[in-house]
Amino acid sequence: MSADSGPLRVGVIGAGKISEQYLANLAGFPDVDVRFVADLIPERAALMAAEFGVPQAGTVDQALARDDVELMINLTIPVAHADVATAVLAAGKHVWNEKPLTLDRPSGQALIDQADAAGLVVGCAPDTFLGPGWQTTRRMVERGDIGRPLTATTVFQTPGPHTWHPNPDFLYQPGGGPLLDMAPYYLTVLTQLFGSITGVAARGSTGSPTRTIGQGPRAGEVFDVTVPTYVTAIYDFETGGIAASTFSFDSPLIRVGFVEIAGSEATLAAPDPNQFGGDIRIVKSGSTVWETISAVGVEGGRGIGVVDIARGLRRGDPHRASGWLGLHVLDAMLATAESIDDRAFVTVSSRASVVPALPEGWDPTSRSL
Ligand SMILES: NC(=O)c1ccc[n+]([C@@H]2O[C@H](COP(=O)([O-])OP(=O)(O)OC[C@H]3O[C@@H](n4cnc5c(N)ncnc54)[C@H](O)[C@@H]3O)[C@@H](O)[C@H]2O)c1
Repeated sequence: MSADSGPLRVGVIGAGKISEQYLANLAGFPDVDVRFVADLIPERAALMAAEFGVPQAGTVDQALARDDVELMINLTIPVAHADVATAVLAAGKHVWNEKPLTLDRPSGQALIDQADAAGLVVGCAPDTFLGPGWQTTRRMVERGDIGRPLTATTVFQTPGPHTWHPNPDFLYQPGGGPLLDMAPYYLTVLTQLFGSITGVAARGSTGSPTRTIGQGPRAGEVFDVTVPTYVTAIYDFETGGIAASTFSFDSPLIRVGFVEIAGSEATLAAPDPNQFGGDIRIVKSGSTVWETISAVGVEGGRGIGVVDIARGLRRGDPHRASGWLGLHVLDAMLATAESIDDRAFVTVSSRASVVPALPEGWDPTSRSL
C-alpha cells in the first residue's frame, strides 16, 4: 500500500475524558488507523492506548516525530488548542481540533493560514452535525418540510459540568463557560440552516464566583469561576433568520438539546446538536399534533469528522467540519462575549459556507479506503 492510500494514519494528543469516546469510536472506523496516543502526562496516554488497543503512546514530541502519522487529533484543553495545533502543522501533519478551535481570532486565523501555506488541512469539532440526526433534519428543511425557515429557539441549561467532570476547572475559565464549551454545537447547526451569523446582542451573568468539584480524585476541591455561567443571546443570520439562544451552567433544572426551528409552514423540533442521532418532531401550521420522524443513517459518534477528512484527503475532496467553520463559530462566540461586556450589539464579519450534505448512505463504520 502506498503512503497516501488506505486508512488515514492518525495520532491523538490529549488522553483525558473525551479521549475515551474518540478512541472507542475510532476503533470502529476502518478508514482511520490510530497509531499513537500522547499526553503531557505520558502515563495517562499509555493507559488509554492500552485500554483501546493503540500500539504506542508517549510524549507530544514523540508523537510529532512519528513519520507514519498523517493527522493528529488534538483533544487537549482549550487553552492549549492553538499551541498544540501549530506544532502539529509545523511537523507536517494535518490537525483535527476539539472545540473551540482556539481562544482568539488571530490564533485561529493563523492556524488556517499555516495549514494553507503547507498544503495541510485543519478540521474542527463539533462533528455532531454530520450525524444522522442533523443530516436528516437538514434534508427535511432543504426539501421544504417546514416551508421557509424563519427563526430558531435553542436552550442548553444544566447545573454545570463541575458535578461530573474530574478536572472541570477549564470549563469555568477562558475557553470554557457554557458559551465556549456548549455554543459550538448549537451555533454550528444554526449556521448550516441559516448561513453565517452576522451579529449578536447578548447578556450574561455569573451565578457563583467559585465551584466545588463533585466527583473523582479531586472531589471537594474549590476553584474560581472567571467567565459568565449564564449567557442568553439573539443572533442575526445571513439569510435574515434570527435565533434566540440560552447557554447556562446556572440552572438546577436540566434542559439540553432544545432546538426548535419555526418555518413558514411548520415548526420542527430538532435532535440534540451535541448528539449524533435522535428523532425529529414536526408540527404543521394549523395543527397541534406532533409527527415523529426517525433519523436515517449510522451514528458513529465523535470522530466521524475525522473519517470525512480521511476520505476527503484520499479522494481529493474537501471535508465538512472545517477549520473555517470552527473559526466562524469562534468569531460569533467571541462577539457574544464582547456584547455581554460592552452591553452592545456586535457585528460578526467572518463568513462560513453551508457545507455539502453527506450522501444518505454515508457510513463511517464501513471501509471505503
Ligand atoms: N469531556 C467532554 O465531555 C467533552 C465533550 C466534547 C468535547 N470536549 C472537548 O475536548 C477537549 C478536552 O476535554 P476533556 O474533557 O477530555 O479534558 P481533560 O482535562 O479531561 O483532558 C485533557 C487532556 O489533555 C492533556 N493536555 C493538556 N494540555 C496539553 C498539552 N499542551 N499537550 C498535551 N496534552 C495536554 C491533559 O493532560 C489531559 O489529559 C476540550 O476541548 C473539550 O472542550 C470534551
